[in-house]
Order: sequence, then structure tokens, then C-alpha cells
Amino acid sequence: MEPPSRTEHNPPLYQLIFEHMLKRLEQGEWQAHDKLPSIRHLALELEVHRLTVFRAYKMLCETGKVYVKDKSGYYVSPLKDELQLTVTNLSSSTSSSSSNSSNSSSSSNSSNSSSFADIQRIPAHFQFSQALIDPSLLPNLYLSDYVKKVFDLYPKLMGTYATVQGDEELREMLSQHFHEQMGIQLTAEEMLITSGAQQAIHLLAEMLVGPMDAVLIERPTYSIAMDVFRSRGARLLPVDITEEGYDLEQVESLMHKYKPRLFYMNPTHQNPTGYTVPSWQRKQLVELAERYNCLLIEDDAFRDIYFAEEPPLPLFAYDTFGKVVYIRSFSKYVAPGLRICAVACRKPLIDSLVSAKSLVDNGTPLLNQKIFLHYYTSPRLQQHLGKLRIALQIHKEIAEEQLAAAGWQWTSPQGGLNLWAKLPDGIKTQDLLQAAIGQSISFMPGPLFDPLGKFESWVRLSYSFTNETVLREGVGRLVRLAERFGDEKG
Ligand SMILES: Cc1ncc(COP(=O)(O)O)c(C=O)c1O
Repeated sequence: MEPPSRTEHNPPLYQLIFEHMLKRLEQGEWQAHDKLPSIRHLALELEVHRLTVFRAYKMLCETGKVYVKDKSGYYVSPLKDELQLTVTNLSSSTSSSSSNSSNSSSSSNSSNSSSFADIQRIPAHFQFSQALIDPSLLPNLYLSDYVKKVFDLYPKLMGTYATVQGDEELREMLSQHFHEQMGIQLTAEEMLITSGAQQAIHLLAEMLVGPMDAVLIERPTYSIAMDVFRSRGARLLPVDITEEGYDLEQVESLMHKYKPRLFYMNPTHQNPTGYTVPSWQRKQLVELAERYNCLLIEDDAFRDIYFAEEPPLPLFAYDTFGKVVYIRSFSKYVAPGLRICAVACRKPLIDSLVSAKSLVDNGTPLLNQKIFLHYYTSPRLQQHLGKLRIALQIHKEIAEEQLAAAGWQWTSPQGGLNLWAKLPDGIKTQDLLQAAIGQSISFMPGPLFDPLGKFESWVRLSYSFTNETVLREGVGRLVRLAERFGDEKG
């Protein structure tokens, strides 16, 4: 391949290198997601300064044909057709789910998860689709200290199975902790350790839900939970969640009419909205659950990620009838890779859950449980949480500053990882996503969280995964893109 040459009248050198690389890309020298030569390598190859190559790569990124990964390098973007396919699949999956659904029920078995996973897989420099915390804000280095400590303390650790129910020391510690923090009376026998909250939801759905069983679910809701219940053939009955919580009359009338097996809820800093159900409703919900014999599955994955004030006590704290299953994952803010989650509920349900877990994997890896235990009981956890809350609040405010000037609407969350925002009038979330992906920006479109497949003008923007600089720039770009859309419509 001939390197670009420059004469007196030529455009600047970086422009020539940009065109040269563009040509090589068009000739198919690299495939989607292939890594391009490093800046250093290309500068040597073309005998130019590294900054010149850097400017050329920056221009390539601006065309959308190339994307950059932090500290890793420059990569070839997927073809427009590939992106188009993903977004089109998304549009058809959500529109079919909305046409299948009536106001009160949906028995559709179709899954949103492929589109959810597809969007998360699309490489984007401005990554706002993943409700994950930037790994550099997590205690990775400290955790490695505990790996060593755990092997010193339990030299035969890897030579044995964990018990199915979970490490007893860990269950003792967590039940004690739940008592001290939330006044919950619980024994270690009433707790199961699962590999993440997702496994807990899956086990419960397998045990409790069969074809056409009615299941109450928030609208909007955590998308994966919806898929899990759908995979069991459940009829999903949406319960609206707003910044004020639920409409308890709606909940009661659904319980009365459909006799649902369970109500899956994420009432504290909810995903995707960030809303928190007030404590007065929590007490009444437990009473309704008892009256209508409906189990409440309380997913509390974001309890510790609050900004100003601690959230209200979990519903589980008010449960004297054994009608609440409490799922407390520690994935998000300790270590997603450890997959540690505690599930608490009363007998006989806990015994059935343990049996179900034994069929799946015979216990969550003991090494992970011990690392988590020793980190969790160290003073480092509270220090980490204190810093993390500040960092995430700053992230949230940066994203909000960018949205504020542009006519987007949202309720400022008091915790969690996401902004649930309504686009300015006339803009469809899928159209915006398609254009945004071309600019290496990704977010989650509203319909993916809706059992009825609507919320077409809503987006979930996760502010926790990118660093502050990238967040500010990316949300700013997204807002400007939406403004251009608005201008074209107007
Ligand atoms: C509400 C909610 N529950 C559960 C999970 C998954 O948790 P885990 O990683 O422990 O499976 C998530 C992840 O985003 C979530 O948002």
C-alpha cells in the first residue's frame, strides 16, 4: 500500500492520512471490530509524527467508521447495515409486543433480551446503555488483597464444594448485618446465596410460575426480569410506577381480578426510572400481599447507591406473614464479576429455593463468597461506598446539566445508575438511537423496559459507566443530535 505523498498544494498531512486510511477501510483491509494499527505503528510506517496520525484517527472517528476504546486503541465500526439490523429488530420486536398486548395482560413469549444484548454489544465510545459502574470506581485492587488473604485463611478452599445454600459464615454475617442496618429478624437458615440477582429471579420463576400464570410487574421494569417471566409463559400484568410510587388501587384491583402468583418489583432507585416507592406504600403492599395471597419479589439491587438520604426500609422489613422474598445483589457496587447475591425468605419457601439451586449449579463458588465476605466486613467497604456515592452523584449532575438546556424531561433520581428521560416532542427513541450509534453513542430505548412495548419517546441513560469527561461530551453530543432531529421535524 502506497503511503500518502504531499506536495506544496496538497491538503494538510493528517487529511491525507485520513483519506489513505479511509481508502484502506473501504477496500476491506480490516473487518468490523478489527483493531487498526496503533498510532505509533502507523506513524513509523508512514514516517510522520504521531500527532499527525492522531488527528487523522480523530477524523476517522468523526465519520463513525472507526471507534476508540479507552486505553486500547482504534477499531473498525460495524457496517451501517449491521446497526440498521439491530435497530430494526428492536423496532419490530417492540411493536409486535405492543400489538400482542392488551391493557391488562400480555402472554407474549417473545424476548427483548436479544435486542437488549445487541445494543449493549454495539461498541460505543459514549457508552450509556450499560447500567454498570466504571470499573475504575470499583475496589479491584483491594479485592486482590483479599484473594491472597482468603487462600492463607482457607488453604483447602479450592479443593471442596461450597454448600448449596451458601457459605455459612457469609450467611451469618449478612443476616446479622440486615438486622443491624434494617431491623430485619433473620437466621442464616432463611438465606440462600445465589450467583447474582438474575439467578434468583430465574429460580423463583421456575419454581412459582407456569404457562398463563398472572404475574404483576412494574411498568417500566428491569427488562431481563420481564424476559425471565415471559420465558415461563407468564401473563404479565403491568403496574405503573411513577415518582410517587404505585397506584395502590390499581395494585389491589389487579390482585383481586387476576389472583397473580407474584409481583416482581424493584422499589428502591428502580431500574430504569430511579424512582423509590415511599414507606407508607411499602406497609400497605405487604398487607395487600397477605390479603390476596400474592408473593412480593423485592429486588433491592441499588439500596446502597443513594445520594443524600438513605432509602426507606425494604418491604421485607414489614413482612410478618412470609409474603416477601428479598433479593439483595451486591453485583453493582462491589464486584459484578463475583456474582454474589443474598436471597432471604421464610420457610418453607427457602427450602424449595435451596432445592432448586442444587439442580442448577450445586452452590455459588466458595472462593467468590469468601473474598466477598472478607471485603464486606472490612472498613474499606464503607470508605468505598462513601466515595462511590459522591462520584455517582457528580456523574448524575453532569448528565443532568447537559439535558437541562434542551427540553428533555426527567425526575432527578435520589440514587441508582440511570436517568429515565423523556425526549423533546416528536422525537422517537429508536430513530435517535440509530443516529446516535452512527456517532458512537449508545443508550437504551424506552420500549425495552415496557411490558406493553410503548414508551417510544423515553430513553434510559446510564451515567455510571463512562468517566466524567466522556459523559459530559457524549450527553452534550446526544442532546445536540436530538435538537437537529427536532429542527428537521419542525
Ligand atoms: C433491578 C436489577 N436486578 C438485578 C440485576 C442483575 O443483578 P446481578 O448482576 O446480581 O444478576 C440488575 C442489573 O442491572 C438490575 O438492574
